[in-house]
Amino acid sequence: MMPEAEAWAVAEEVAAIRQLCEERNAVILAHNYMTPDIFHGVADITGDSLALARAAATTEADVIVFAGVHFMAETAAITCPDRTVLIPDPTAGCSLAESITAADVRALRHRHPGVPIVAYVNTSAAVKAEVDICCTSGNAVEVVRSLGAAEVIMLPDRHLAAWVAGQVPDIRIIPWHGACEVHDRFTGSQVRSLRADGVTVIAHPECPADVLAEADFVGSTAAMTRYVTVQRPRRVALITECSMADNVAADCPDVEFVRPCNLCPHMKKITLAGIHRSLATMTHQVTVPERVATAARRSIDAMLAVPAAAAVVGAR
Ligand code: 13P
Ligand code: SF4
Repeated sequence: MMPEAEAWAVAEEVAAIRQLCEERNAVILAHNYMTPDIFHGVADITGDSLALARAAATTEADVIVFAGVHFMAETAAITCPDRTVLIPDPTAGCSLAESITAADVRALRHRHPGVPIVAYVNTSAAVKAEVDICCTSGNAVEVVRSLGAAEVIMLPDRHLAAWVAGQVPDIRIIPWHGACEVHDRFTGSQVRSLRADGVTVIAHPECPADVLAEADFVGSTAAMTRYVTVQRPRRVALITECSMADNVAADCPDVEFVRPCNLCPHMKKITLAGIHRSLATMTHQVTVPERVATAARRSIDAMLAVPAAAAVVGAR
């Protein structure tokens, strides 16, 4: 996926990173939105938020380097408090995680007594500590159904909440107003014109409802990868972050990937040089205060105990 000259330029850094991983017994977990040099060059495990949360919970490595945004590294720190979790850039945030605080969740609980609260993993540890269970885009429907409740609060993504509500018409979903700054920018008319051109359109559930209504398939980043690698559409648009198409294209040379896509400025703060520095200096360590971690762990463990639909979940 990279011009040969560029690949040679990063080869030395890739080798140095892999050498440090050996020396430190470290594992690199990389989200599907990482650039191809990270995704294909140095990652030990790649996947969506759910696959990476599962991988972090079961790794035997001493050090986890999280090539993803802060809430993902925090989730790893919560599930494995005895490991060192590093993030190459601690300012790699997320507009969804920033849209809600623990105090907001307490106010919601007060307003809707007895209604279970599901938090998307794109939230801070403090928010996870206040809710009943977490979910990702890969298991949100199964998590909501697992509660057996007539009403469920889903936070913080209003688009994911609306999409789940459409999948579970027998359950009343009470949403929060957050949105992903990357997916919120796609429009239904973009999707309509792609489809009119014969392009298969696959969208992430963080997109607005009019985008999802026009798409051929909706799923988590892992489900999107799986759809393309199994169905092999002739021309496809992945309505999500730009690196997704670059990474999937490497395994699907027969598929034409059509833009648009939007860059996530937070994910793009994680670079090969940053990962190298992180391993060399053992920074930036991600820790969660024990009291918060204990409560947040309950919500994450509850999610990991929900059996996921095989078609929806799957690391590469
Ligand atoms: P996935 O769980 O589908 O990988 O999505 C994470 C994310 O942040 C999407 O914007
Ligand atoms: Fe957050 Fe959106 Fe970036 Fe995902 S793509 S990390 S939801 S801002």
